[in-house]
Amino acid sequence: MALYSEKVMDHFLHPRNVGVIEDADAVGEVGNAKCGDIMKMYLKIKDDIVEDVRFETFGCGSAIASSSMATEMIKGKPLSEVKNLTNKAVTEALDGLPAHKIHCSVLAEEAIHSALDDYYRRRSETEKASD
Ligand code: FES
Repeated sequence: MALYSEKVMDHFLHPRNVGVIEDADAVGEVGNAKCGDIMKMYLKIKDDIVEDVRFETFGCGSAIASSSMATEMIKGKPLSEVKNLTNKAVTEALDGLPAHKIHCSVLAEEAIHSALDDYYRRRSETEKASD
């Protein structure tokens, strides 16, 4: 059996939503101290819906495939759903990852959660400023 599923290979070789959103409403950046890989997630949010999402991943193939799949899973979704995205869901959507590569999908979950934290932080600052 191949080590990586066809979906992993497809998202690794043809990653969706790669890039930067210059005027993003939220940016999340996380890293894995062990392997040194870094993932950055940019969100454009309107009416609590993820209108657009882009990512930059400086890391392994599984991390690239996981971020690509994760962006597909959250695009057009309400934040209430996005916040519940787990690395397990990403891994399942990729038809699995080898056990020693599961941590790469955790980066995708963490990058999205970090971007959401940034979004809520910015929003509360804006609300405070307008008080
Ligand atoms: Fe570092 Fe995959 S080996 S994220």
